[in-house]
Amino acid sequence: MNALIRTSLAAIVAAALAVPAFAQDITIKFSHVVAPDTPKGKAAEKFKELAEQYTGGKVKVEVYPNSQLYKDKEELEALQLGSVQMLAPSLAKFGPLGVSDFEAFDLPYIFDGYDQLRKVTDGEVGKAMLAKLEGKGIKGLAFWDNGFKIMSANSPLHTPDDFLGLKMRIQSSKVLEAEMNALGAVPQVMAFSEVYQALQTGVVDGTENPPSNMFTQKMHEVQKHATLSNHGYLGYALIVNKAFWDGLPEDVRAQLDKAVAESTAYGNGIAKEENEKALQAMKDAGKTEFHEMTPEEKDAWKKVLIPVREEMASRIGADLIKSIEAATGQQQ
Ligand code: LMR
Repeated sequence: MNALIRTSLAAIVAAALAVPAFAQDITIKFSHVVAPDTPKGKAAEKFKELAEQYTGGKVKVEVYPNSQLYKDKEELEALQLGSVQMLAPSLAKFGPLGVSDFEAFDLPYIFDGYDQLRKVTDGEVGKAMLAKLEGKGIKGLAFWDNGFKIMSANSPLHTPDDFLGLKMRIQSSKVLEAEMNALGAVPQVMAFSEVYQALQTGVVDGTENPPSNMFTQKMHEVQKHATLSNHGYLGYALIVNKAFWDGLPEDVRAQLDKAVAESTAYGNGIAKEENEKALQAMKDAGKTEFHEMTPEEKDAWKKVLIPVREEMASRIGADLIKSIEAATGQQQ
């Protein structure tokens, strides 16, 4: 090899090595607590794909699923400190941050299906809720769906009486605490990453989750009974560190906004079906008995759970609850 070829080759190698440093100068670490094969896990991967594509590789997105980086409470602290840039925590987990508005989403039976929910998340009420995060150094970008929750335990849960004294794992939401208390259960706040083991070892007797979370964490292997109650909703706020987001070049932020809008539409478009598939997979696995509620049982649950709305009005704001009821057309 003569000297000229050697020099040219060295230049080509040096140029190739230098490209990533220039091309991928912004990294977004996106931490979450669920499995990749869930509505949130899939939407996060879609965001990564679109963000990298629309920014021409200028932005690199690293997705860390399954509490690999941080658990529930830690991840919000990590976002505020700038250790991660993006999260999608469940709306039930913002209370400890001092933003209790999102707990309105936890109110039992507040939404009768995805259409009613959408009236809130896509409307003025949702926009105002996301804006509340700004004071915490957080920017709310979108609402991401999971779905409607089912109740599980090792004993049948047909009527409220069946909950008496059961230790039920909940997320860190005062509304969920009130919900379990209303049913006569003993609520236990616990990080999502610890739930499977707690159920397996009997630290708690049961829990509530949309089917996709229950299935992908294998909770059905350690829960003998589940009731298809759909008594409440579990969804997410897609959030970023505000200083990071505001500091992005304008063109990059616009490209990321497009990736956010499209990954939101994608994730919210698949959530219902993902949950239906997960439920079917658990039924096929045959470890859990799934109970369809009778109209009488539904009425009995509603009778004890709907008053949670009034009980929580002083925490969440009676006006906010009213504006949700007005948006959904579901006046009590
Ligand atoms: C839970 O803790 O049960 C859920 O919030 C997990 C999740 O992010 O869906």
